[in-house]
Amino acid sequence: MSTTDVDLSQNGSIRADTFCLGIEECDFSKLLERPRPLNMERQRSYDERSLHELTMGLSPQPASRTAEYSSRIIDHLEYSVSPGRRSGFSTPRSHIGFEPHPMVAEAWEALRGSLVHFRGQPVGTIAALDNSEEKLNYDQVFVRDFVPSALAFLMNGEPEIVKNFLLKTLRLQSWEKKIDRFHLGEGVMPASFKVLHDPVRNTETLIADFGESAIGRVAPVDSGFWWIILLRAYTKSTGDTSLAELPECQKGMRLILSLCLSEGFDTFPTLLCADGCCMIDRRMGVYGYPIEIQALFFMALRCALLLLKQDDEGKEVVERIVKRLHALSFHMRSYFWLDMKQLNDIYRYKTEEYSHTAVNKFNVIPDSLPEWIFDFMPTRGGYFIGNVSPARMDFRWFCMGNCIAILSSLATPEQSTAIMDLIESRWEELVGVMPLKVCYPAIESHEWRIITGSDPKNTRWSYHNGGSWPVLLWLLTAACIKTGRPQIARRAIELAETRLPKDNWPEYYDGKLGRYIGKQARKFQTWSIAGYLVAKMMLEDPSHLGMISLEEDKQMKPLLRRSSSWTV
Ligand code: GLC
Repeated sequence: MSTTDVDLSQNGSIRADTFCLGIEECDFSKLLERPRPLNMERQRSYDERSLHELTMGLSPQPASRTAEYSSRIIDHLEYSVSPGRRSGFSTPRSHIGFEPHPMVAEAWEALRGSLVHFRGQPVGTIAALDNSEEKLNYDQVFVRDFVPSALAFLMNGEPEIVKNFLLKTLRLQSWEKKIDRFHLGEGVMPASFKVLHDPVRNTETLIADFGESAIGRVAPVDSGFWWIILLRAYTKSTGDTSLAELPECQKGMRLILSLCLSEGFDTFPTLLCADGCCMIDRRMGVYGYPIEIQALFFMALRCALLLLKQDDEGKEVVERIVKRLHALSFHMRSYFWLDMKQLNDIYRYKTEEYSHTAVNKFNVIPDSLPEWIFDFMPTRGGYFIGNVSPARMDFRWFCMGNCIAILSSLATPEQSTAIMDLIESRWEELVGVMPLKVCYPAIESHEWRIITGSDPKNTRWSYHNGGSWPVLLWLLTAACIKTGRPQIARRAIELAETRLPKDNWPEYYDGKLGRYIGKQARKFQTWSIAGYLVAKMMLEDPSHLGMISLEEDKQMKPLLRRSSSWTV
């Protein structure tokens, strides 16, 4: 099966060759403001292989698969240089020679203070170092929370802790996972883990939470995806491919992927999830096909393609990934995308259409369009909406999903530009005085009661319900750099700098504009600290972007003439 055989379509059918048409090429080199080290351009030869190339690798080959893989590795090794090994320095130096902001030193100190050790080795960072509030599970190492910490350490030339974390969580994956009498899938990665010290026996043990202790018993669908994404960031940043090559890492990836690539009753290529399965880990109406998970799924699939060996066990997984990526990108770019033109189309939709010729495929009733969307939608700009399923479009804006869509190139270059346009024109709503709204707008009154189950932590404009989360700054900054709009990130970072250290690095802020420290926000929240550091380091040296961003794959370009406003 080759890429060109993939058949996706309206009634089933846009042919894959049309993916190469329609949208102009994205010239990555123009997107970065500052000159990048030479190695970045060359690294692409390893990293940015198109699906087509990889699919070609699936057909019978004269040389062994291992040889193919090692040539990719050598290619990578030859050209990749770590962004700067500065272990020993407690704060990074600016490579263009200006003094770091005083907050940076303070943030590094706090980040180092959050390190968690297991048997003498650093293995992660604690979620929050706040002794004034009830700890709950904030004394644990969360997989998703560790990502910005890991990136900060990689960018500072300290990859060991990231390697330790990846290996430790991999061991946890192999644990038997059970909720009451029900066994969870083998590949599930934990939401968080904790080191238990026994002072009497002088021993240390790990305990992990796969959802069986979590509030609401939600399993973290995002953890496995973050794990794969981090493995690729480590490999890209260090040039050390030996970690990803380990049989246990290869197996770990296959297990994660087999959870989401298995065949079932699905009619869509998106991943069906329960509510609260990601950063928003409480009931917030993010069940179904939430954008955050779909974007992470897409990114993890692309990272896995780069890391998986095409040996006997990997080959079949690679084949399934390639097919899924094509279907997933088509589905997301077509049905999750909303701009002025698409909104107007939905507004005028006919309903109750049957058969392949239906325009309103999911039978969305125009009356279900919320009032706020008409004012919110700018003339220029667009975004991926929160969720799409039969007769349901969740029009809310979710920051994480849209940023990951840009970084993974799930968004076409035109869509990425449109997302940034939207952020600029809806600055007050999405950024206000503290970056950034986790979602917009908040749900209130009757809707809040029905959707959250009257959750007192998620009242309007608080926490997950329209609260402002400083951690999202790193994702915004990365998206800004990728789209060539670093000035947007600078503006957001300056806002954060006026409050974050003064307020002791809160987890989140409340209010329409984000003016108030969150009702139950923890202080010294590690990912608020690390997110700030990563944002600063990326702006200073945009070549860091490479470890968390993937080039557009030309083979995946859909021919979609429907929404001409993509090219706003
Ligand atoms: C909250 C957040 C979750 C985070 C955890 C630890 O539960 O919703 O995303 O991982 O705190 O910081």
